[in-house]
Amino acid sequence: MSQTAERVDVATEAARRRTFAVISHPDAGKSTLTEALALHTHAIAEAGHVNGKAGRRRTVSDWMDMEQARGISITSASLQLDYRDTVLNLLDTPGHADFSEDTYRVLAAVDAAVMLVDAAKGLEPQTMKLFAVCKHRGIPIITVINKWDRPGRDALALMDEIAERTGLTPTPLTWPVGIAGDFRGVLDRRTGEYVRFTATAGGAHIAPEERLDPATAAAREGDAWDVAAEESDLLHVSGADHDDATFLAGISTPLLFASAVRNFGVHALLEVLVDLAPAPDARPDVDGDPREITEPFSAFVFKMQAGMDTAHRDRLAFVRVCSGVFERGSVVTIARTGRPFATKYAQQAFGRERTVVDLAYPGDVVGLVNATDLRVGDTLHDGRRVEFPPLPTFAPEHFAVARAVDPSRYKQFRRGIAQLDAEGVVQILRSDLRGEQAPVFAAVGPMQFEVAQHRMATEFNAPIRLEQLGYSTALRTERAWVPAIDAQLGAEVLERTDGQLLALFADRWRLQTFRRNNPEVVLTPLVAA
Ligand code: G4P
Repeated sequence: MSQTAERVDVATEAARRRTFAVISHPDAGKSTLTEALALHTHAIAEAGHVNGKAGRRRTVSDWMDMEQARGISITSASLQLDYRDTVLNLLDTPGHADFSEDTYRVLAAVDAAVMLVDAAKGLEPQTMKLFAVCKHRGIPIITVINKWDRPGRDALALMDEIAERTGLTPTPLTWPVGIAGDFRGVLDRRTGEYVRFTATAGGAHIAPEERLDPATAAAREGDAWDVAAEESDLLHVSGADHDDATFLAGISTPLLFASAVRNFGVHALLEVLVDLAPAPDARPDVDGDPREITEPFSAFVFKMQAGMDTAHRDRLAFVRVCSGVFERGSVVTIARTGRPFATKYAQQAFGRERTVVDLAYPGDVVGLVNATDLRVGDTLHDGRRVEFPPLPTFAPEHFAVARAVDPSRYKQFRRGIAQLDAEGVVQILRSDLRGEQAPVFAAVGPMQFEVAQHRMATEFNAPIRLEQLGYSTALRTERAWVPAIDAQLGAEVLERTDGQLLALFADRWRLQTFRRNNPEVVLTPLVAA
């Protein structure tokens, strides 16, 4: 293929891609919605309930023993769906707050987010946290009010809550006909038509939709239609109509009403993703210079995964392609080390189902196997060197010293710790004082410790003991201040693998006292970048 032809091809392929994640508080229906999207794009033939009712399939995104036992989703991968002429890359994010660090990294790899809100609960803490990350990064957000089939809040009250608490202007594209708990259909605010839903048994199949003109809708639904039409007019008068520019700038959020479990409103979400969500664009490198999508291949690792397939203890590095074409079998360069990396095996992975990927374009996610040389955040490239900014790390709030139960297995212990570190399962901190044999695990949520402990025992054959440390706060500091901090009771400085020094404090009282007594010491918060 000539270079020009290839360039045109990349631009065309990139333009028809949408890479996004669903963010929500646990239980808002993320897994159910994911399945509904897979159903509507014919990636699966039948939806089965997430938590596995007898005789029904488990959701496709569950795979680790632990997550199955807990009924939560710990791991992240992506699902590629075809809709119209568009390729949708849905990146999976763990629902549990303890794994939010993982979710934040996934958000570094998307171009848009779908914020799922439970109609009865409104905005919940985890939704707010994830929303803040999206806002910080300028990720455009599509909001879906889910579970409208169940009694919940008033639609206009939900609009107010979103506007007040997120600062985003909600611009509903659909408006519910029937209150929460009596979901008959939606008013399509762009055409004025009534989209009437028909339930299927157990929501296992695509729910048929019927489009009716307003007069027929009024005759059919009576008051429910009149109320919807009146409220939609009110929204129009108050300026709550969709606007591309403000959506892409993260100022407004198109909003839809849905019932994932009944497959209502899922079709509309797919249309919005195709019509309104942004396609991949040039990505700034570490110096802020853009890597155009038509330049040679580049990608970054946003997620490492080990032991997904219990039969093959492989390591997968999930990369998001940023520019050029990914071709399986090509040898690319790891920007951090300058070393070559052979992409001999590549696959898309979602749950247990894997397919081999031969070609991938900007926006796509590829799982690279045998990725032991890679770390989370690594850039891979071909042609002109590029290094993308490091992925954000988050302020850990839980700390524990890890020790090998059997000291004679120290080699396995070290190998395991290095791997967990490369994958970002926990942050690894060390100090001369504590020594190499007693690294400190730092985590955003305590369940990260459980995963680390489980994997050290089962995968590396090096069981560990964890001793909790009584710290709750970590701040960035510099080497000059180490003696002063170490001298403080209830404080300690440890070095993270990336070289960052972290000052740990037992509680904010000690931190405040320390700050008062040592005003010259520089302590800066660790925040999402
Ligand atoms: P998550 O991934 O965000 O944690 O949520 P998940 O999809 O697991 O859904 C959490 C619960 O909410 C499930 O119920 C699911 O069936 C239910 N749910 C999801 N979407 C809707 C919806 O649109 N309407 C209604 N009424 N319920 C919804 P569960 O009781 O935990 O399990 P199950 O017995 O229903 O399978």
